[in-house]
Amino acid sequence: MKDPMFFNKIAAAMLVSLLLFFGLPQLATALRGGHHGGGHEAEGGNPFPQYPVAYTSESAAGAEAAAPVDFATLLAAADPKAGERRAALCKSCHTFDKGGANGTGPNLWGVVGRTVAGHAGFNYTGALKAAGGEWTFDRLSAFLENSQSYIPGTAMVQRFPKAEQRAEIIAYMNTMSDSPLPLPTPAAAPVAEEPAPAAAEGEAAIPAPADGASATTTGETAVPADGAAEAPAEDHSGH
Ligand code: HEC
Repeated sequence: MKDPMFFNKIAAAMLVSLLLFFGLPQLATALRGGHHGGGHEAEGGNPFPQYPVAYTSESAAGAEAAAPVDFATLLAAADPKAGERRAALCKSCHTFDKGGANGTGPNLWGVVGRTVAGHAGFNYTGALKAAGGEWTFDRLSAFLENSQSYIPGTAMVQRFPKAEQRAEIIAYMNTMSDSPLPLPTPAAAPVAEEPAPAAAEGEAAIPAPADGASATTTGETAVPADGAAEAPAEDHSGH
């Protein structure tokens, strides 16, 4: 190929087709005067049935999971061992063992259920001290999801957008304690025969495959959607 613009042209062609692919159905819907909801039933006229369908399933899932991803369900299924591996990156600042030293961050032995900013000998920020109360499973999850937005001004900077990963870490932290708290009961409880609390070690036998699956899908559709849109562009500019 002599043409130095060859790959640029291909990239441009792909962008245009992407635009057409995603833009046309929207245009069609707009011309018919319908919103997304209006178009579904009259799918016959739509050249790209996948498009509105994707919207339908997304909003349906959103409605189902109106109570945002049941964290208790994730916790019940979470493997503390996996959490321990993930917690490796906390260890540059924290110890988890009993009587462990404070580092950049406080020792975290027994932190689940512990008073927020309550570890003796650590110089907490005013922001964390002002938060008050105790570290519940949910509050730890919120803190790990985005520490800075949950407690603005805290000295800890961590983000774990994936609820499954937070559940693993928190399940692990709960084992690092003199008195691990009983895991919360999953909201939708299709596992009536199996009392999850029996799992003192957190080794609950993977209940609720349905919930787990839907939670996973919700989490994953949100993230890769962005990635997928960006990936092709990056790929081609790179070559
Ligand atoms: C770069 C250092 C650093 C890393 C990495 C880090 N933290 Fe922290 N963490 C801190 C600091 C500093 C504080 C105290 C924050 C304050 O006073 O505002 C803290 C506070 C906390 C607290 C509150 C403790 C209490 O006594 O109230 C928890 C829980 C916590 N961290 C968990 C974690 C977990 C879990 C990880 C790994 C996923 C992690 N941290 C990674 C620095 C870190």
